[in-house]
Amino acid sequence: MRIGKSTWLAGLVVISLALAGCAGRAGQPAPKAGSAGPAPAPRAEQAAKPPLKIGILVPYSGVYSKLGESMTRAYELYFEEAGGKAGGRQIELVKEDEGDPQTGLRKVRKLVEQDQVDMITGIVRSDVLAAVRDAVHEAKKILIVANAGADVVTREKKSPYIFRVSFTNWQIAASQGEVAARLFGKKAVTLNPDYQAGKDNVKGFRDTYEKAGGKILKEIYFPLGNADFAPYLAQVKQLNPDVVYAFAAGSDAVRLVKQWKEYGLLGQIPIISNGFMVEEDVLAAVGADAVGHYSALSWAYSLDTPENKAFIEKFRKKYGVAPDVYAAQAYDAARLIVEAVNQVKGDTTNQAALMEALKKVTFRGPRGEFKLDPTTQNIILTMYIRQVQNVDGKPTNVVRETIKDWKDPGVTR
Ligand code: PHB
Repeated sequence: MRIGKSTWLAGLVVISLALAGCAGRAGQPAPKAGSAGPAPAPRAEQAAKPPLKIGILVPYSGVYSKLGESMTRAYELYFEEAGGKAGGRQIELVKEDEGDPQTGLRKVRKLVEQDQVDMITGIVRSDVLAAVRDAVHEAKKILIVANAGADVVTREKKSPYIFRVSFTNWQIAASQGEVAARLFGKKAVTLNPDYQAGKDNVKGFRDTYEKAGGKILKEIYFPLGNADFAPYLAQVKQLNPDVVYAFAAGSDAVRLVKQWKEYGLLGQIPIISNGFMVEEDVLAAVGADAVGHYSALSWAYSLDTPENKAFIEKFRKKYGVAPDVYAAQAYDAARLIVEAVNQVKGDTTNQAALMEALKKVTFRGPRGEFKLDPTTQNIILTMYIRQVQNVDGKPTNVVRETIKDWKDPGVTR
């Protein structure tokens, strides 16, 4: 078998953590509760505790590759700050490129069966999360979701092994319905990628937009990883709604925001989106083309809190670039893991105790108060309604409104 990029990267991480002053080396995997066969015997020279193996599953290629890169940087930043250890165990990362749902499922099986990781974190795409849910649940493997918003995993397909620090698609989309109706008007067109996240988003937006008296004229979907938005923008122009509700991320967002301006729609038709569409990674590429866009997200670079300022400073110092929401989510995921594993003193074989600890961790992070809803194990968010404005000549997401204690409703029927 070929040595993949991920294997190579995993080696790099072990080395980089060791360089950061946390001596140690990869040892034997932790014995698994209920696993078949004898646990490997500890080597004589090894510290009593085996390494804590964490599988990081994010995109390193394709439309969302920048998201995966940013998340990986934030995981490594936090783990390094924690001295490369959790519960007295050396942290060892195994990185995999999540790909599409089929690939993601294969990678989860590899992480569980071959690498025997103690837990998995990451996952960007909603359809990948939905595809791996049963495999994770049946393997009783703890999964800390740090992006993918698939609503179903907090609702009908909720699992005690899955914790989500990022959002549900509903949380981000539904936070905009009342705002869109109040600020822009009662006739909307939606513009979303044609996969699970886009479908969830439109449902979420519809929920609150219609309650506020709005009507959706048309749901427009484009393929994920789309190059040319002209046919979709032509439909928008022709329908001439009061507002467009949109979502795109990564390279799709860069293209959509640029083409929105090129097509003469900027300043003509108001647009509000899931804030990924105008996040720091996108602003760095589109600059002034995004000025005027409204969006909703659980973070903004401009949040003036000591925790956010410290996070930005540390991230910039290590990587020389601004963090984005993906980094903020992964940073919180890393902290959740370290704090919970510290609480059980590194004993991940007592999974019930670890799961209880994971539910209860709270802290103030870059996005504000970090707290999971104990019923759904999904984060309770503060949502920020932001507008891109020129601040000192720099396009900046300025917070215009704040929505507190924003929870996914969970199973409603
Ligand atoms: C998702 O598929 O859930 C998803 C992907 C990229 C984002 C947000 C959500 O920026």
